[in-house]
Amino acid sequence: MIPDSTPTLPASSAAIWPTSDWTRIVDRLATDRHVILPGILPAACWQALRAEAEQLQAGASFREARIGRGTQVQQEKAIRSDSLCWLEPQMPAGGAYLRWMDGLRDTLNRELFLGLAEFEAQYAHYPVGAFYKKHVDRHRDSNARVVSAVLYLNPDWPVAAGGELVMFDEADQEQFRLSPQGGTLVLFMSADMPHEVLPATVARWSIAGWFRTRS
Ligand code: OGA
Ligand code: MN
Repeated sequence: MIPDSTPTLPASSAAIWPTSDWTRIVDRLATDRHVILPGILPAACWQALRAEAEQLQAGASFREARIGRGTQVQQEKAIRSDSLCWLEPQMPAGGAYLRWMDGLRDTLNRELFLGLAEFEAQYAHYPVGAFYKKHVDRHRDSNARVVSAVLYLNPDWPVAAGGELVMFDEADQEQFRLSPQGGTLVLFMSADMPHEVLPATVARWSIAGWFRTRS
C-alpha cells in the first residue's frame, strides 16, 4: 500500500453551518473597530474544527510560527511560541469555515466597501506556557490585511487558566481582555489594534484569519 501522509480527517461535514446575517455585526465593527461574538457558531461546528486541528497536528501538519514574510521571515521564539497549519478549502471542517467567512467577506465589501479579495486562516496551537507578544496583524511592508478574525476552539476554558487575548487601542491603552472560550469569534481592524496572547496553563486552540486585499 502507498503510504498516505494526509491524515484522515473527521467526518465533520455533518455539522450544520449557519447562514449568518453579518450586516449588524459589520456596522458595529465599523463603529468600534472590533466586535466580540460569543457563541456565534453552533458547538458542533467549532468542535469539528477543533477535532480537525488535533488530527492535523497528530499528522505532523503544524509548523512553528514565523514572524514577518518574504526575506524578513525568521523564527523568533521570543515573540511567539505557537504552531500553525493553514486551512485549505478541501478540509472538511476548515473548508466549511472558509466558506462561512466568505459570507462575512461579501458583507464587509457590500456595506463598508473594503474591497477584500480573500480570507486566509490558520489553525493555531499554543502549548502550555506559549504566548504571542504585543503586535499588529498588518505586515510592515504590506497593507493587505484589513480585518482580523479569531475563533476560539476551547470547550470550558477555565478562567484561571490565563491565555487571554489582550487588546490595546492606538494609544497603547488596554481596551479589553478576552478568554479564549470555544465558539467566541472576535473581529478587529488589522492595522489599528495592537494585541497580545498571554501564556496559559492549558493548551490553547484557535483559528486566526485575515480578510485581505490583493496588494
Ligand atoms: C494572531 C493572534 C490572537 C489569539 O495569530 O495574530 O493575534 O487570541 N491571535 O489567538
Ligand atoms: Mn495577531
